[in-house]
Amino acid sequence: MDYQNELSGKIALVTGGTKGAGRAIAERLLQAGATVIITARNAPEKENSKLHFIPSDLSKAEGTQKVVSEVLSAYGRLDILVNNLGSSTTPAGGFTALSDEDWESTLQANLLAPVRLDRGFLPQMINRKNGVIIHIASIQGILPLYDSTLPYAAAKAGLRNYSKSLSNEVSPKGVRVLTVSPGWINTGASKAWLAEIARNANSTVEEAQQGVMDALGGIPYGRPAEPEEVAELVGFLVSPRASYLSGTEYVIDGGTVPTI
Ligand SMILES: NC(=O)c1ccc[n+]([C@@H]2O[C@H](COP(=O)([O-])OP(=O)(O)OC[C@H]3O[C@@H](n4cnc5c(N)ncnc54)[C@H](OP(=O)(O)O)[C@@H]3O)[C@@H](O)[C@H]2O)c1
Repeated sequence: MDYQNELSGKIALVTGGTKGAGRAIAERLLQAGATVIITARNAPEKENSKLHFIPSDLSKAEGTQKVVSEVLSAYGRLDILVNNLGSSTTPAGGFTALSDEDWESTLQANLLAPVRLDRGFLPQMINRKNGVIIHIASIQGILPLYDSTLPYAAAKAGLRNYSKSLSNEVSPKGVRVLTVSPGWINTGASKAWLAEIARNANSTVEEAQQGVMDALGGIPYGRPAEPEEVAELVGFLVSPRASYLSGTEYVIDGGTVPTI
């Protein structure tokens, strides 16, 4: 099979596709021959004229509606939806540090944005009995960090569960639905965060990285994932080579989650 062109003719949307794992996924799908649309609130810092950028705040229902209408009116259909957008912006300190607004904004971005986008794009996928939906969750969905990311971990657990339910409903109608749960990814934001930890602790970046890995209970492979490694997994899952995969979760964490 010609992997270089295996997505030729396919229309793909990657949310949060301007940075980090989303950007790597968008570029991976482009490489495989797909037409790729990306969304985020701000324009990408790194230009790539082959990526069709739609500015939108997906934590709002209007933002989702805008993306669904623009994609369907420009291309008439969507074949591949990668719900990659996700983030944790709430304060650390456990349950007492968190307001209703913290919970609400985290659930909007991490759970309700994918739910709304799926609802917007699924009817035309079902009509054509063709489509793939990926939900990028996190190992925190099963391995929560209560002190720093309580609402995020709960939202990702909800996303995993929803993804399985949706798969049960739409797989018989020809649409594959999958979950990808990464462990720590070495994104630009992650690199900046490590540099800040190192600066504050007067240590090296390597020591800061080791400290984060220790806090996670260790990463057997000894390092975080590169965004391109997550993108490679997604590139396979959305391809015809993965035609029988639906309703399953793929953990990519260098062994972080212990066997339970
Ligand atoms: N990084 C990790 O270690 C890690 C680990 C496990 C799982 N994950 C998951 O992997 C996925 C990608 O994470 P990442 O770290 O690569 O992300 P990232 O580098 O923080 O990038 C986030 C992307 O989402 C966009 N975005 C954020 N809020 C948005 C909103 N309300 N509406 C529309 N777009 C929005 C950002 O652009 P704007 O800010 O311009 O909107 C950006 O394009 C997420 O689902 C994350 O939860 C990450």
